[in-house]
Amino acid sequence: MHHLAGQSEAPYLEALVAHVGRETGRFHVPGHKGYGVDPALVEALGEQAISHDLPAGLEWIDIGEEPTAFQRAQDLAADAWGAKRSWFLLNGASGGNHAICMTFAHGEGRTRSGPPDRGKVVVQRNVHSSIIDGLVLSGLRPAFVAPEIDPELGIAHCVLPESLEATLDANPDAEAVMLVSPTYFGAVARVGELAEVAHAHGLPLVTDEAWGAHMYFNDKLPTGALAAGADMVLSSTHKIVGSLGQSAILHLGRGDLIDEGIVDRSVTLVESTSPSALLTASLDAQRRLAATSGQELLDETIETLTAARERIRSTPGLEVLDERLAGRTSVEAWDPLRLSIDVRGTGATGHTIARLISEHHDLQVELFSENVIVAVFGMGERATISAERLIEGLEHATAEIGAGDVEARRAFAEPPPWGPLELAPRDAFLGAQEVVPFDDAQGRIAAESLAAYPPGVPNVLPGERLTPETLAYIADSLAHGGLVRGASDRTLKTIRVVRE
Ligand SMILES: Cc1ncc(COP(=O)(O)O)c(C=O)c1O
Repeated sequence: MHHLAGQSEAPYLEALVAHVGRETGRFHVPGHKGYGVDPALVEALGEQAISHDLPAGLEWIDIGEEPTAFQRAQDLAADAWGAKRSWFLLNGASGGNHAICMTFAHGEGRTRSGPPDRGKVVVQRNVHSSIIDGLVLSGLRPAFVAPEIDPELGIAHCVLPESLEATLDANPDAEAVMLVSPTYFGAVARVGELAEVAHAHGLPLVTDEAWGAHMYFNDKLPTGALAAGADMVLSSTHKIVGSLGQSAILHLGRGDLIDEGIVDRSVTLVESTSPSALLTASLDAQRRLAATSGQELLDETIETLTAARERIRSTPGLEVLDERLAGRTSVEAWDPLRLSIDVRGTGATGHTIARLISEHHDLQVELFSENVIVAVFGMGERATISAERLIEGLEHATAEIGAGDVEARRAFAEPPPWGPLELAPRDAFLGAQEVVPFDDAQGRIAAESLAAYPPGVPNVLPGERLTPETLAYIADSLAHGGLVRGASDRTLKTIRVVRE
């Protein structure tokens, strides 16, 4: 827990408010100057939001005597999360993943010799698509490590230390390890042990902790990846900590396996030259709120969710994922800020229940798969009111389904091994390609990704050869109402492949 000096300040927010309060003459962008905006937008957002919409490069905010208010805001974030240095990201954690990949592709950032942009990284197979995009942008070659799959729930958990060890032994030319923790379902990986494995091979561990930014601010929550020894950690702060949408933070850990200057260059490369003051101020403000009141606010959300889980459990057909998730081999701990509901007992799928609560109660959940629905709760939201609404919606939906509407549930089949990587994702994505009928795609190199849900572990990524087993698995999944993400033709009648 961090209650460090200065955490009750929000220097960027304060400097921004003071700037607007001075009614400075504005002869710079944005052109609305705080006034020239469609009245409906003013009505929706409020005059204050419009007048505080300023660019970077303003005296007393982010230029002038150092440390500027902007620098102090980033330093306070680094202190709050326990990082050596933190960068505010205004293109989401997605932009952070692009910057992370550029960092490891950088010739100077590489631990091993070889041409720039041809480095190899070990990557958890079910990383967020923004890392795959980062591989395309950077030219890095991936060696994938599979997460533990839960055959009962049909979802993916975390990477096991022994799986990482085996992948690193098989890839002695790898330069970094990129893993995810917590998962969408709140499973927290054994990050301390995973960091030890990576470090024993001389490599930095990057953890995509998009879903875990709040874990540093309440003593009932699992240990965050920075505290557990990860070398770089990505926080999607707009998720549970609740900064404005699209804002996030990249943290550098305290080790010296990653060059700070190269991270800085890489973040600059992928960021806008007109970063939004609204998003920046929201990062500064939510960092303050988390550092000063996170214990209390998260306590409230945790208590509400504990009660909500009890009620949901007593609803016929519904079960919840809870600390028992931490019993799975790859899972060290469980983050209670997600309400993951196991719907198998209703006889209906998560898709049907999510549709019913949306149509009848206008309730929109974060994620739904065949067996599980995930509802996200934030730090300091009015959790009691929203939990009540969700529970009522679920009770009505299950009552409506009744016993008569049992959907055929397939036995869960583990995805087949992915095909061999023939080209770097960048070369496959950017190279000459053609669109072929699904039935003719066998043996070709994919130019796009395909991930069948459940469990959402990509079956094919750009650069991999399409095997008959994988194509059969995807076709079977689609035929049984599964979803395939990533394909340019969502009906999957065709696939985009590399022209060889
Ligand atoms: C694990 C993970 N990483 C990165 C991202 C991208 O985050 P953002 O939406 O902030 O760009 C997400 C988004 O859901 C995610 O789940």
